[in-house]
Amino acid sequence: MENKTVQKGTATLTVNSKTVELPVLGGTDGPDVIDVKRLYAETGMFTLDPGFTSTGSCESQITFINGEEGILLHRGYPIDQLAENSNFLELVYLLNYGELPSKSEFHDFSRDVTEHTMLHTQMDRFFGGFRRDSHPMAMMVGAVGALSAFYPDAMDVKDEDQRRISTNGLIAKMPTIAARIYKYSIGQPFIEPQNHLSYAENFLRMCFSVPAEDYKPNPAIIRAMDRLLILQADHEQNASTSTVRLAASSGAHPYAAIASGVASLWGPSHGGANEACLNMLREIGSVERIPEFIARAKDKSDPFRLMGFGHRVYKNYDPRAKVMQATVHELMQELDIKNSPILQVAMELERIALEDPYFIEKKLYPNVDFYSGIAMDAIGFPTEMFTVLFALGRTAGWLAQMNEMTVDKTQRIGRPRQIYTGAPFRDYTSLDTRS
Ligand code: SDX
Repeated sequence: MENKTVQKGTATLTVNSKTVELPVLGGTDGPDVIDVKRLYAETGMFTLDPGFTSTGSCESQITFINGEEGILLHRGYPIDQLAENSNFLELVYLLNYGELPSKSEFHDFSRDVTEHTMLHTQMDRFFGGFRRDSHPMAMMVGAVGALSAFYPDAMDVKDEDQRRISTNGLIAKMPTIAARIYKYSIGQPFIEPQNHLSYAENFLRMCFSVPAEDYKPNPAIIRAMDRLLILQADHEQNASTSTVRLAASSGAHPYAAIASGVASLWGPSHGGANEACLNMLREIGSVERIPEFIARAKDKSDPFRLMGFGHRVYKNYDPRAKVMQATVHELMQELDIKNSPILQVAMELERIALEDPYFIEKKLYPNVDFYSGIAMDAIGFPTEMFTVLFALGRTAGWLAQMNEMTVDKTQRIGRPRQIYTGAPFRDYTSLDTRS
């Protein structure tokens, strides 16, 4: 990766009667940054920024979010245009290789992915070690980490060919793993991938087909599944992507790094929000109960939050939520799901919240997880599978970000510092001298 930041000036910092000049760097778009890498050497001080609200961890050329305007670009292309005109595999290529593929490039890439969708048969026995009622994300964390035990031949991330093999291999195998997790949880036999199917249709068939009868999904469901994957593919340096970058910065191989991303995504404040949001909509149950939950969301003494609302970066409508909402309406139309109570509650909840001064003042809008759960529910997935589906899409971004970090000459092992407020130096006292 060619580093492309340009110095636009300097920031002067005076602390303890010492003045340092720190470079101000600019990029293609978005806020400039103050390069503080020399701060400790020059002042003996660290910065402190819990949650990294004002801290950039890297230079990246993959995704850009304008949170104030509600804009999301992947290699410069807006998410709404990609969702409308592209497909998930093409987006995977764009994220990982930087440009939209030519016809021959896309043919070769999709063939390479398609030809690696099968899993080692002993992986199937791995699932058998889980309880049937294990949370699907528990199985996904385990299965993805275990891949390195079955595919040890492409783990040297410094080697470009091995990076491509592990990247394409993970994109190929994640749907097969996710489908097996679903089948295992409902006690049905695993269904093998079919090479003549598209990525989304292949995944849906592995999930919903049974030996007794094949599954031919409605084209609207295939389109909605592909769009779900597109909308969840990458999102700058979110918690799980930062986890993947930090894990990979130690030289950990791709399977371990991606498994760490799966683990981080599981949290209800992050990728687990789609599952939590649908459970919340079900708990609300009717539009009459919405005011009760809005009041709870605003009550500081109540830990309840409106799941699927709010975002660290978006202080405007999440553009993915808009596309996801449109996808839900298309799906309901095509599947003739009229007056879905869940959708009615979601639409009314959104309407009320967006007019409420609390949400307006705190700039809380629906995020990608607000409608994604409704779409996944309409496609036929149980709530516990929602974050697995999020991980399926986000694997594209995790790999692209990890590979970008691997070839970024400015990157080193991630090792944040701290401010210490624990006990000062003291000598050990033996047990028999303690009261
Ligand atoms: C994803 O980073 C990414 O890009 C993530 C993601 C991706 O694609 O990778 O976009 C995917 O994780 C989307 C977010 C999904 N999570 C949820 O929907 C869970 C509900 N949302 C929140 O918990 C919260 O909004 C976060 C976690 C998303 C953002 O948290 P921040 O930026 O740390 O904001 P905050 O918690 O400091 O909240 C700011 C204020 C607080 O009030 P005050 O203390 O200032 O008075 O807004 C309030 C919060 O109480 N607030 C909410 C709220 N979200 C924030 N109040 C009620 N309901 C909410 N959902």
